[in-house]
Amino acid sequence: MTKTIGFLGGGNMASALIGGLLSNELYQPENIYTSVATKKSVDRLIKQFGIKAALDSHQVIKSSDIVVIAVKPYMVTELLTDLKNDFRPGQVIVSIASGITLDQLKRLLPEQKIYRAMPNTPASVGKGMTSLATMLSDSEGSRESVTELFKAVGEVAWISEKLMHAAIAVHGSSPAYVFMMIEAMADGAVLEGMPRDKAYLMAAQSLIGAATMVLESGLHPGALKDQVTSPGGNTIAAISVLEATGFRSSIISAIHAAAEKSREMEAGKL
Ligand SMILES: NC(=O)c1ccc[n+]([C@@H]2O[C@H](COP(=O)([O-])OP(=O)(O)OC[C@H]3O[C@@H](n4cnc5c(N)ncnc54)[C@H](OP(=O)(O)O)[C@@H]3O)[C@@H](O)[C@H]2O)c1
Repeated sequence: MTKTIGFLGGGNMASALIGGLLSNELYQPENIYTSVATKKSVDRLIKQFGIKAALDSHQVIKSSDIVVIAVKPYMVTELLTDLKNDFRPGQVIVSIASGITLDQLKRLLPEQKIYRAMPNTPASVGKGMTSLATMLSDSEGSRESVTELFKAVGEVAWISEKLMHAAIAVHGSSPAYVFMMIEAMADGAVLEGMPRDKAYLMAAQSLIGAATMVLESGLHPGALKDQVTSPGGNTIAAISVLEATGFRSSIISAIHAAAEKSREMEAGKL
């Protein structure tokens, strides 16, 4: 049976997911429906992906087995209130909107199967990380199809909804921190005379390699760090500067700040 998926919103995150789904061939372009707010985005999505894109959300909902809500969080309530009669009972709905809870979604769409997802933009290259939460039990829900959707663009973790703030901080926002780290590492190399293009390659490839070792070796990150750190050598010289300038505590505090902001947004304080 042909599977169809619809996106309400076709911006940065929806485009990252669509790019990943097409590369993985989980969906064919003609089976992906998207609605956006501007004609410019309709044209971009058709040109970039060859998918169906329109200003009309009604048709997206009616044509899709799974509907992904990918508009900005502040728009979700108004949009779903306007469109609620288009959804079929039992239709699978996945919201990627930060700070919109399962409870809020269930109140807006009481007859649908509701999931909450926190993906990240590396989904566009098949290296995404998505946290998923639902109030549905395994037997009443469609966990498998939701898992399959996000597995097509990277790794998946099912978590309890209260951990979504941590998920947002550690993998929703973190590509930005990692891009900053790559930029800073490359700047350091450029300071030492390395050409810019080679500096970016070296910094980015080192991050990929180190991350892959963490995932594949089963060793503690500290043990892997020790393997690179010879007594009196270059690495320990760098590490002592990182410790003195608060590298680790800065990252821990940044993750905590992102989670705090997420809690405030969910509580409607912002
Ligand atoms: N960016 C990330 O890294 C990331 C990570 C995890 C989760 N998220 C979540 O993903 C959601 C989208 O974020 P984003 O960064 O992709 O935002 P974005 O780039 O601003 O995209 C928002 C999209 O919504 C469309 N839109 C606006 N009004 C609409 C309407 N009435 N009907 C249908 N579509 C409408 C916009 O259309 P136009 O293009 O025509 O303006 C745009 O395509 C947010 O809820 C965010 O919390 C984002």
